[in-house]
Amino acid sequence: MGNIIVGQSGGPTAVINASVAGVYKRAKQAGVPKVYGMVYGIQGFLEGKVIDLDDYLSTGEGMELLKRTPAAFLGSCRFKLPSIQTGEELYENIFQMLEKYDIDAFFYIGGNDSMDTVKMLSDYAAQKGKRQRFIGVPKTIDNDLPITDHCPGYGSAAKYIATSLKEIIRDNAVYGDYRTAVLIVEIMGRHAGWLTAAAHLAKDASCEGVDAIYLPEKSFDLSLFLQKIRELTQKKRSVVIAVSEGVKTPEGRFVCELDGAGGEIDVFGHTQLSGCGAFLASYVQDRLGVKARAVELSTLQRAATHLASLTDIEEAVMAGEAAVSAALEGMSGVMVTLKRDSDMPYHCTTEVYDIHKIANIERKVPVEWIGKDGCSLRPEYEAYARPLILGELQPIYEGGTPKHLVRKEQ
Ligand code: F6P
Repeated sequence: MGNIIVGQSGGPTAVINASVAGVYKRAKQAGVPKVYGMVYGIQGFLEGKVIDLDDYLSTGEGMELLKRTPAAFLGSCRFKLPSIQTGEELYENIFQMLEKYDIDAFFYIGGNDSMDTVKMLSDYAAQKGKRQRFIGVPKTIDNDLPITDHCPGYGSAAKYIATSLKEIIRDNAVYGDYRTAVLIVEIMGRHAGWLTAAAHLAKDASCEGVDAIYLPEKSFDLSLFLQKIRELTQKKRSVVIAVSEGVKTPEGRFVCELDGAGGEIDVFGHTQLSGCGAFLASYVQDRLGVKARAVELSTLQRAATHLASLTDIEEAVMAGEAAVSAALEGMSGVMVTLKRDSDMPYHCTTEVYDIHKIANIERKVPVEWIGKDGCSLRPEYEAYARPLILGELQPIYEGGTPKHLVRKEQ
């Protein structure tokens, strides 16, 4: 195979760079002459923003740092390709760029929306008889891609959430019986509750866990919520609640928009969801007259590479490697998927799957995994998620903080 190019797209994860490392490693093993990186995904590529990954990764140190670097090393984008009928010129520009760098295979690391890019480009190549192959590499903290057992990025975000909640639960209880404190933790994940469900993993031998978990898979009734908090505060002084950024009222309104604020809408039609924790904390404080505070984990939960799950890092590398192997076998229009062979001992391998059955489709938490009370998780979730957060990779420290690999600006 000739030269290849890899890009990153959508919201980052703690291990999205580990997949770049996997692509690079496997390509070099296979004797690929040039491994290019597109800067700012397909959007930057269209403007000629391309780097040679040898400049950063040809040394072992570069690869080790990349695996420990948060955010998208190459830069990311939220860019929707037009339909093939209306966007012919743009598609031709992309293929001219691919020819300019003599690229045979294109790898795109992303979630549902980014897989749409892989689908469109592979369809265009098939229609026009182009030689390039297009392969998707899964990543998303939201864990909402279908077919794959889970998505690289989820395990690390889940580990950070479980760890932070254990710390928050200890902190919230410091005043003992002398003061009631309600703490509401808002967790990302859009319309799927996988990430918020990770709050369940805070519970273990040294932690009593959170008091309630609200996922977007169930509609969110404000009066029932208030009733639940009232009952909890009558029984205990420290109350910690996990709530998804994407919860909606039975009428279909995002709770984060109930205070009148509306978030930005991106090119894929997704509203930026933020603020439901703050809204609920003031709602509780006003109506119950108890101290209530909101914590929005926000960017921290997807950028915390210092606390990444080793299982997740290894699988992200594996997904990148598997993508190159698929291209070497001549495949195109597919995404790498993770296949769980067993829970105990946990074992996972890779396969590939038709991108048309994956792009733009969201996979939710099965409702059977949610407790009868509507705000807890059943043991099936624990069995699914616990193996994904196991293991640690020590950061390389410099001056007391983790060292990162940073791209020279393009
Ligand atoms: O899709 C990943 C994700 O982190 C979501 O959980 C979150 O709602 C969204 O991205 C935030 O998007 P942005 O990075 O564009 O603010």
